[in-house]
Order: sequence, then structure tokens, then C-alpha cells
Amino acid sequence: MPLNSFYPDSNDIIITENKPLNQFSTLGTGGTAEFFAQPESLSRLQELIRSAKNIPVYVIGGGSNIVIPDGLIHGLIISTRSLNSITWTDGKTAEIESGFVLSQLVKILREKNIGGLEFSAGIPGTIGGAFSGNAGAGGRGVCEFVECVKAVDSSGNLVTFMRGEFDYGYRRCGLSGVITASLTMSFRDCPSWNEESYSDFMSRRKSQPLNFRSAGCTFKNPEGDSAGRLLDVCGCKGLRLGDAAVSEKHANFIVNCGHASSSDILGLAELCSKKVYECTGIKLEPEIKTLSPCFIAP
Ligand code: EPU
Repeated sequence: MPLNSFYPDSNDIIITENKPLNQFSTLGTGGTAEFFAQPESLSRLQELIRSAKNIPVYVIGGGSNIVIPDGLIHGLIISTRSLNSITWTDGKTAEIESGFVLSQLVKILREKNIGGLEFSAGIPGTIGGAFSGNAGAGGRGVCEFVECVKAVDSSGNLVTFMRGEFDYGYRRCGLSGVITASLTMSFRDCPSWNEESYSDFMSRRKSQPLNFRSAGCTFKNPEGDSAGRLLDVCGCKGLRLGDAAVSEKHANFIVNCGHASSSDILGLAELCSKKVYECTGIKLEPEIKTLSPCFIAP
């Protein structure tokens, strides 16, 4: 393959060049990947990493919390969409590959009458993405249930992190520099499914602009306050940059009204945080992440 810095050892791995990435983000924005692959198993993921030489490696899960930069992205972008198996090791514990969809897990738990994840009602994205940002609501997060993480490092080696070896917190999992391949999640100590709590979390979504493309909440909630409320009282609702707009329905959502670019989205987020800072002195921290390399393959 006549490529400068990337020499796949195996002909079995399908690598696409100049792959448009907007379809991999719920915002529908972003440029193209120099190299793109969607491995179907852990061993294929390892092979892929081992064949990458001296190149930035990125990973995309469900794309529901990321902004993919515009233009050509130099490096290898890996989608976890085809790493999507779930294996129950006992009635309440499962090993779940990172590309498995969170809402699918919630559906299974509801059917099995196993509680715990009711707060995840309506959260989009994959288990890998949910783990990386400790997705949740009401002070709870998916990391609470993770007993073991299998990940791949920059040399393609499998590394395992047991509970206690990753320091998760509000919207962070405590691991970086590796690609999460699977999670063992246990609901052993959970009560049975609480439909009322699930419906309650689901109905909170009614205040969100779900009929528009977005990346969910733009900013994290500052200690003891709500980013949405602050953005609202500071007059951000309806602000626009190109086709990016602050939702009139929920001020912590930036929506793509048509053909927004990622720089429109990020520019508008910057404008909003400036406005809130000037108005209240509070520095909002972004919750949406700009796609950045996991590591540089050695
Ligand atoms: N509010 C306003 N104006 C707005 C938006 C909100 O005044 O434009 C007020 C609301 O009236 C409410 C308060 O702010 O009193 C909190 O709003 P909301 O109930 O929507 O909750 P939130 O704190 O904004 C959190 C999570 C959401 C999750 C919801 C529902 C964060 C940053 N956000 O939102 O998560 O969906 O609770 O459970 O933790 C996400 O992570 O992407 C996300 C959307």
C-alpha cells in the first residue's frame, strides 16, 4: 500500500482512505479520516493497532458526545461499531464489547427485571463511550457497575484494569491512552427494575431538543448549579453561528439546524461560555469533546 506512515501487515483488515466522518457523529458535522477502520473483534483491533506505525490513532464510539474536527484528519480513525457482543457470565454479570449500544443494555436489564441503570434512560451512544465519559444523570454514572475493563494499548497489547485501578468521577472514567475493548459490568447488588424511576428519567428528556441533531449537553453542570439554567439566564438561547444554534428548548444544547460545520459548533460553545463568564464569573467546562488522538502508534 503506497502510504507514507501506515503499513498494514494484514490484508484482512479493511482500511478505507479519505472516509467522511460526519455520519459517525450525532451532530452530523466533521471532516474526513485519512485512514478509517471498523474492526470486528478484539484480535482484529489488536492487529490493526500493531500495523499502525508512527501515526495518531483515534477512536469513535456512538459519536453522541463528540465534535469531529472539520477538514482532513491525519491518522487512523477506528470505529467500535462492529465490536458489539454481549456475553452473560452469570445472571447479573456480563462482558460487553465497547460498541454495544447503551440503550440496548438498558432494554435487556428492564426485560430481566434487574435494576441499577434506570438513570440511563434515553442516553444515546455505546457502552465504550458511556464508560469514557461516565455517562449518567442525577449524580449517578455507568462506571459504578464496571468491574473490569479490557483495553488495547498503543503497542496493540491487551491491558486489563480491575475496579479500583481506574479513578472515575463526574463525566470521567479515569483511564486514558488506551482503547477500551470491553467492560465487565455487574448488577449483582442491584435491586429489581424500578419502572417509576426509569419513566421519571425518561420524562426529563422532554425538556431536550431531541428532534434536532446535537451532541447532548454542551457543558458540565458546575458544582451546585445547572449549566442549562446559567446559559438561559445569561441570554444564550437562540444565539447562532452559521447553522449552529443554541436550542430555544434547552440552553445547554447546541443544535445543527442544517449544514453547520464543527467550527460553527465549537465557536458557538466558546461564545456561550464567554457570555456566562462575563455575566456570572462562572467558567463552564465543556462536556462535549473534540475528537482527539487516543495515542500515537509507536
Ligand atoms: N434550565 C433552564 N433553562 C434551560 C435548561 C434548563 O432554566 O434552558 C433549568 C431547568 O428548569 C432545571 C435545571 O436547569 O431547573 C436543570 O435542567 P435539566 O433538568 O434539564 O437537567 P440538566 O442538569 O440540564 C442533566 C444532565 C443531562 C440529562 C438531564 C436529565 C448534565 C450536564 N446534564 O441535565 O445529561 O439528560 O440531567 O436527566 O449533567 C448529557 O450529559 O449530555 C445530558 C444531556
